[in-house]
Amino acid sequence: MNDPKIIIALDYPAAAPALALAERLQPALCRLKVGKELFTATGPALLEQLMQRDFEIFLDLKFHDIPNTTAQACKAAAALGVWMVNVHALGGRKMLEAARDAVAQAARPPKLIAVTVLTSMAQQDLADIGIAATPAEMVLRLAKLAQDSGLDGVVCSAQEAALLRKQCGDEFCLVTPGIRPAQASLDDQSRVMTPLAALQAGSSYLVIGRPVTQAADPLQALLDINKEIVGA
Ligand code: C5P
Repeated sequence: MNDPKIIIALDYPAAAPALALAERLQPALCRLKVGKELFTATGPALLEQLMQRDFEIFLDLKFHDIPNTTAQACKAAAALGVWMVNVHALGGRKMLEAARDAVAQAARPPKLIAVTVLTSMAQQDLADIGIAATPAEMVLRLAKLAQDSGLDGVVCSAQEAALLRKQCGDEFCLVTPGIRPAQASLDDQSRVMTPLAALQAGSSYLVIGRPVTQAADPLQALLDINKEIVGA
């Protein structure tokens, strides 16, 4: 089965630029991530258009609510036919289990993954909300909680991938943003890893935005990354 490792982040405010980019890419080479901005602007209609072009979709809406509401949202996402959906692990075990049970009932269950600690949050930000643990401790704790609750994996930084791969085993899905090919602009990312290094560290899937979306030739940028990681 074709299982492309690259997920292209469609960080756009409207359908037109997202579809224009999709036209220039190929579903055999990547999946597409639709997040809060694009989904809020365009809704399920855009997902339908992307899936008609054979792209599989990671719907990155990071649900976080009481268990019943989160489960119903996951159920609705699964009914759209997306490949992957996510929730915040900070919603707790009951919420995670409710989400898991909801997607399991779908005709075609999407992969369900959890966000652990947002990478925008440092030690002081955790202290501000009453969490004394370090970000690294929290990431591991929440990844274990997600795994115990029957989720398929987590979103994490590539820097965390090696530890989580060791602690959570080979089957656990690690989805890593903050990827930059050597020589690419860092944009606003600070701790980055190359595609090959991230896969070698244990990443299952790489979320890549601007290095492809802002490239003069997005397909060529994608092909170049695929060439780098082939065999990893
Ligand atoms: O353009 P770039 O490759 O930096 O885009 C990365 C994508 O991954 C964006 O959609 C961003 O919101 C997302 N992301 C991230 N870091 C996280 C979680 C998500 O960069 N910790």
